[in-house]
Amino acid sequence: MTQHVFPAQARRTFAAAYPASPVKFEHQLLDHPLLSIDALADLAAALPDGEIEYNPGELPIGIAPEDVPEATLGVVETIRNIGQSGSWVALKRIEQVPAYHDLLHDVLGELSDIVTPRTGEMLTLEGFVFITSPGSVTPFHFDPEHNILLQVMGEKTMTLFPVEDEDLLGAEAHELFHLGKRHRNLPWRDEFAAKGLPIQIKAGEAIHVPVKAPHWVKNGAFPSISLSITWRSEWTYAEADARAFNHMLRRIGLHPMSPGPFPAQNRAKALAWRALRKFGRAA
Ligand SMILES: [Fe+2]
Repeated sequence: MTQHVFPAQARRTFAAAYPASPVKFEHQLLDHPLLSIDALADLAAALPDGEIEYNPGELPIGIAPEDVPEATLGVVETIRNIGQSGSWVALKRIEQVPAYHDLLHDVLGELSDIVTPRTGEMLTLEGFVFITSPGSVTPFHFDPEHNILLQVMGEKTMTLFPVEDEDLLGAEAHELFHLGKRHRNLPWRDEFAAKGLPIQIKAGEAIHVPVKAPHWVKNGAFPSISLSITWRSEWTYAEADARAFNHMLRRIGLHPMSPGPFPAQNRAKALAWRALRKFGRAA
């Protein structure tokens, strides 16, 4: 790319926050030819079916059974009709299509000099596109990746919560998540609301979402397109393995301390878990 996606001020803002804090900054990916409605419809047609989730539209609250329309819209038509109430599309692991692989690597490559000294090499780069109709809500959940969400069209508000607050999510829930025994959606209680930090982004703005920071998202009044660019790091893998090791300690009656927040490397427990896994002793 000839033009930088993240201008100098955006890089400074991201650098001041990474990896622990949520922050908003500018990007210059608007009008990118790979992110138009037409290009995204082509992308949906090119991706394997398993990488696409979509809902072509919402039914009214009261409707007679014989009036329920058959779901005749495919994903390509759903993308082209995204203004229709209640419809949404998630395109996953877009890097499987070569042009999007190159876009993902180019954009994240601009930040590697900030990321690598702190959390290690960028690993397992994955991209996702969310195309959503007005008012859609993504429920309270968390994700295991480093993530930057770039708003390309419309606007949305992401409300983020602190990563280390064990009232929101207890240590055992973290452990079960990393062992693949717990869904990423989280139980919501109304008293959590006061701990949330709402960040609104409009087209041309991005949010850094720290690893496992719980969040929920509400779309604005217009159709929205967002690009999520994610990566893993040795730091996140060590935290995940330390959590798994803690789960084993808990099962034998101990009360282990949770892994330390950044910059703790959590290496001792991670290495212990990897050794157990290697010799087949990890449950
Ligand atoms: Fe998320």
